[in-house]
Amino acid sequence: MAKQRATRRTRNGKARTIAAQALGTIEPATRAVVPPVHVATTFLRDPDNQYRAGFAYGRPDNATARQAEGVIAALEDAKDALLFGSGMSAATAAVMALPEGSHIVASQVMYWAFRHWLITEAPRFGHRVEAVDTSDLAAVRRAVKRGRTKLVWIETPANPLWTITDIAALAEIAHRAGARLAVDSTVATPVFTQPLALGADLVMHSASKYLNGHSDVIAGALATARPDAGWERIKTLRTQHGLILGPFEAWLLMRGMRTLEARVRAASESAVLLATWLRDHPRVATVLYPGLQDHPGHAIATRQMTGYGAMLSIRVRGGTRAAIATAARVRLWKRATSLGGVESLIEHRASVEGKDSPCPPDLLRLSVGLEDAEDLFADLDWALRGAPRR
Ligand SMILES: Cc1ncc(COP(=O)(O)O)c(C=O)c1O
Repeated sequence: MAKQRATRRTRNGKARTIAAQALGTIEPATRAVVPPVHVATTFLRDPDNQYRAGFAYGRPDNATARQAEGVIAALEDAKDALLFGSGMSAATAAVMALPEGSHIVASQVMYWAFRHWLITEAPRFGHRVEAVDTSDLAAVRRAVKRGRTKLVWIETPANPLWTITDIAALAEIAHRAGARLAVDSTVATPVFTQPLALGADLVMHSASKYLNGHSDVIAGALATARPDAGWERIKTLRTQHGLILGPFEAWLLMRGMRTLEARVRAASESAVLLATWLRDHPRVATVLYPGLQDHPGHAIATRQMTGYGAMLSIRVRGGTRAAIATAARVRLWKRATSLGGVESLIEHRASVEGKDSPCPPDLLRLSVGLEDAEDLFADLDWALRGAPRR
């Protein structure tokens, strides 16, 4: 795949301008172009008993979080956005806000901890969760129950196989059944996919990943197509449970988002190169990357994404032992969990995800950062060639 093509496809000028300017926020008292951190937890009431500035207490709301939420809403072309203390906190709030006893259809392949929560904890709220292969539209149609299914939850591209789900088709299926479609767009980022424009109702991000981008904040975000009663219920839950992101983290997130488009584009260009080089590597059995033409989701990814992202996985010849040994030998890649930071990470996912995971035991997940692609390849090549063959 030509590097030039990747460069052309991954430009998203709108996201670049919104993020770089952080919506042009200027602090009114000093005219500072960098907003302050609003740490106050309580605010003065007006003499006539009103709170005209719009802030009363730090648990429901925070001015720094509000600024970052404004940027996320603009990036997603959403009517509103809310920040949470983590991606898990955002995702679980969306499910807890559903009416008791809701039927939920969710992707089989998705971030393992949320899948685990849906299966083990969501039933405590009376919900019934059905996991399906959401890349198979017929399977989704069979799973969705008209009038009973309240939420279809997908992740695309989905951890750790980078399975692609057709957002527009799923929105149509969900809506016809009277359900909402929520999309975990953490890996796609607003730079490459705009789920709301494709018909989704809710977008979720682990902002700990690309939105912040520097592996130094845990945060989550939800963005909505419409501020309806369901959205108000999520807001109420955030207030009641104290799920809001703290002001310092919100400020760091705001700082990280300013470079979002440039980081994501550069990392994605390197991922395209690495996927292409690794496909021909004698110690690699398979490369899983939606940018490769032989990936099952390639055609849909090309339609609904403006770039293929910076996450890929490789299946190592020689099985589990060879995969773990490869990860043990790298010197430049960091052997660590998470994704979407400036530094490239490598991880043996089956060790993390446990026995119910669809993750094959020979799979290494690669989060491509901002280092030079040739340096990253050389390090991985050295690690792969030196690892025991079985
Ligand atoms: C795709 C995806 N969604 C959600 C999460 C959960 O986010 P957090 O760790 O911020 O709670 C993660 C974390 O790895 C993730 O990769």
